[in-house]
Amino acid sequence: MILKLSRLCCKMGCCLPSRVLYLGDYVLQGAVGSGTFAHVKLARHTSSGQIVALKIIHRPDGINHFKNESTILQELHHNHVVKFKFAKSHETYKPRQFYTPYVDVIGLEPAITSIDQCLVKGNAFSPETALGLFSQLLDALAYCHDRGISHRDIKPHNLLISCRFTLLLADFGTATKTARSNTYCGSYMYMAPEIHNRVSMYSARKADVWSSGLCFFNFISADHAYSFVGNYDHRYRLISQRQWDSYWALHNKRKGNNRELPRYIQEAVARVLIVDPVLRLGAKELLRGFIGQEISKELVVKELAQRIFQCTHVK
Ligand SMILES: Nc1ncnc2c1ncn2[C@@H]1O[C@H](COP(=O)(O)OP(=O)(O)O)[C@@H](O)[C@H]1O
Ligand SMILES: [Mg+2]
Repeated sequence: MILKLSRLCCKMGCCLPSRVLYLGDYVLQGAVGSGTFAHVKLARHTSSGQIVALKIIHRPDGINHFKNESTILQELHHNHVVKFKFAKSHETYKPRQFYTPYVDVIGLEPAITSIDQCLVKGNAFSPETALGLFSQLLDALAYCHDRGISHRDIKPHNLLISCRFTLLLADFGTATKTARSNTYCGSYMYMAPEIHNRVSMYSARKADVWSSGLCFFNFISADHAYSFVGNYDHRYRLISQRQWDSYWALHNKRKGNNRELPRYIQEAVARVLIVDPVLRLGAKELLRGFIGQEISKELVVKELAQRIFQCTHVK
């Protein structure tokens, strides 16, 4: 079915906004984010009233991302993986008056925001919330890995906060079903050292674990663990040599890091960020290591709710 986006002037008085944008059976409600390949907009189904997030893939070279993401997401059903609703290809889309490209659209469970949008430098999550979110991420990752799927672009932009204030893993555009990969892919600041160093046939699962570890670091510090992969970067060198005491001493001196992290958080980071992928634990093994820890779900929900309120109401 060809869906047409049309711009209509409402002639029904004040009950509807003056301009309504349609994409097929959906009324667009507003943008919620954008990435390399897509704009994401909230939309309401005209007859059922159901709200979805429409991922509108506008780039002509986004077709492979679209096919990949829709095929893989259909196979995944997990509390911490964004839910797939439908995919429609080659839709007509007219965001401006004389410009009508064709786009591919994926309908997704709507989320409130992405984690990067509510992590501001100098305002990291509390250690408990950071660990709670990390264990939700590991849970999603262990589930995907068990089904032979590696994400390959884990970063805070691709981690959403659901309407239940829990983490959702999203953006499976570059995910793969092959366990070993030789593709140079991901996002520069979150890519595993073996990808940076162009090791051929690296383990895509272990690379996901490294990226998740860097996200965890981001949750606890609202900062990056290091700037470059290479021994000329002092912090990276300390991580690769496993000189964690020197690493944390350096970390605490950095501008904006105004609190010392609890020992259990430092140990958790050290357990994940192991440069050698052979020695690096898998998501499931790491998750098992967290089971003894009391992570209060209510506390995570409360902090995320407060954080989102601040992000949307306090400038
Ligand atoms: N289901 C969703 N609900 C709400 N916002 C979303 C949803 N999916 C994505 N977003 C927002 O849109 C951004 C881009 O989406 P993403 O799937 O990462 O696209 P790309 O493949 O272009 O990177 C995300 O960083 C997030 O802010
Ligand atoms: Mg993305």
